[in-house]
Amino acid sequence: MSAGLRIGMVGGAGRLGGAIATSILNAGIVEPRNLSLSYRRKTTDRFPGAFWTTDSQELADRSDIIIFSVRPEDWPALSVNANGKLILSLMAGVRLAHLCSRHNTERAVRALPNAAAEVARSYTPWITSRSVTDGDRAIMRAIFNACGVQDEITSENDIDYLTGLTGSGPAFPALLAAAMMDHAIDYGLARDVAQRAIITMLTGTGRLLERREECPDDIVRTFLNYRGTTAAAIEEMRASGFDAAVRHGLAAAFRKSVSMGETS
Ligand SMILES: NC(=O)c1ccc[n+]([C@@H]2O[C@H](COP(=O)([O-])OP(=O)(O)OC[C@H]3O[C@@H](n4cnc5c(N)ncnc54)[C@H](OP(=O)(O)O)[C@@H]3O)[C@@H](O)[C@H]2O)c1
Repeated sequence: MSAGLRIGMVGGAGRLGGAIATSILNAGIVEPRNLSLSYRRKTTDRFPGAFWTTDSQELADRSDIIIFSVRPEDWPALSVNANGKLILSLMAGVRLAHLCSRHNTERAVRALPNAAAEVARSYTPWITSRSVTDGDRAIMRAIFNACGVQDEITSENDIDYLTGLTGSGPAFPALLAAAMMDHAIDYGLARDVAQRAIITMLTGTGRLLERREECPDDIVRTFLNYRGTTAAAIEEMRASGFDAAVRHGLAAAFRKSVSMGETS
């Protein structure tokens, strides 16, 4: 990878753009002076030494790679000529063909990190247009590895599916945690104790799943076979529609992702 790689982040003051910029700076993929970020209304005081601008074309002209991290509904108003440069879109729904034609390049990558990029623990699936080179791919892998774990995917439909599954993903354990908090507080537990207990349990579960490398279903079966309090809870949750609720939710996310691509 070239030492003087210049990267531009359109929407760099946003949540995901800021998280990715932090990860690639921390990993030494880009030096602060070679990082450009554009903003619309408000800049931040993060990233000392980096170049900030409201002009995303200026950002594109001074960068080798242009990353788009604006909300999909703001993308149509964005006019950036990439002039054949490598572009990376983090936007949900926006298709490779649209990216190439709107930004005047054949080298486009579409990726779906998630909110855990902020703590370098994102899962990031990505896909490329046909003209992306092996060198471009190596840079993409380095960027996504700096944000967590990545997989190159070959079907754009799978990216749409993963947009709901893991792009939205951190919201789902958070949803479970919120429902557990409500129950614990209704029971009478102090809010701070409930919050500490549930967050520690969730992060501990993540580490356990990672370390054991077992299928989550095997772990659930082990708990069911214990025939204790956990089995009592799981059986009641499933009887109340837990699995169906997850299926319906993920299907809704997939439909939304596909429809966003159709309207972008
Ligand atoms: N957050 C996630 O967990 C997540 C996960 C997967 C994918 N994504 C994708 O990542 C993208 C960014 O999401 P986000 O959560 O980071 O949203 P966000 O926090 O709202 O950030 C978007 C940023 O884009 C800026 N912006 C809008 N139009 C602009 C323009 N013309 N020029 C320069 N900057 C502009 C906004 O500035 P103003 O606020 O000043 O308008 C804002 O700072 C979205 O497309 C989303 O689909 C996000």
